[in-house]
Amino acid sequence: MNEQQARALVEARIAVIPDFPEPGVQFRDLTPVFADGPAFHALAEALTAPFAGRFDYLAGVEARGFLLAGAASALCGAGLLPVRKAGKLPRAVLTEHYSLEYGTAALEVHEGELPPGSRVLIVDDVLATGGTVGAAARLVERAGWHVAGISVAIELPELGGRARLGDRYEIYSLLQY
Ligand code: PRP
Ligand code: MG
Repeated sequence: MNEQQARALVEARIAVIPDFPEPGVQFRDLTPVFADGPAFHALAEALTAPFAGRFDYLAGVEARGFLLAGAASALCGAGLLPVRKAGKLPRAVLTEHYSLEYGTAALEVHEGELPPGSRVLIVDDVLATGGTVGAAARLVERAGWHVAGISVAIELPELGGRARLGDRYEIYSLLQY
């Protein structure tokens, strides 16, 4: 399936919810995409296709990024690095804090989980302000791995994530709103 066909299949299943989580915001919900086998398959495939041959592992960002990275990992045969919310991983971790609309949060990976120099493609559902995938990318670099790119289902360009992340990383989004 080509990119355009995948985009059409996924876009047809995205639910748009007005005024959620607050008035004036149009929330784009991917759960109907996950519920549709062929659409989910197409999305998982589309997220890795632009980076084919250029990554060794996928990193999925908790929580919604886990779904996409897990599916993509099974399809392409690459191993998965879980980038978890702070406090969940049992061994020695690296921690990166990032900003939320109100306050901060933190993501963690296990030190030494992957071989040094591994090429890691970061996968998440949405790129908004870029705080989340930015923190994931810093973790990958601090751990001694290489960021092969950042791949998301939906990008919200008005929230400036791509600009904030700069030219440092190759960023792919299947859909932009
Ligand atoms: C959401 C979304 C992205 C992030 C995008 O995660 O899944 O990970 O926000 O926003 P940003 O680009 O401004 O950082 P959130 O932590 O809200 O929820 P989740 O645990 O369900 O993934
Ligand atoms: Mg998330």
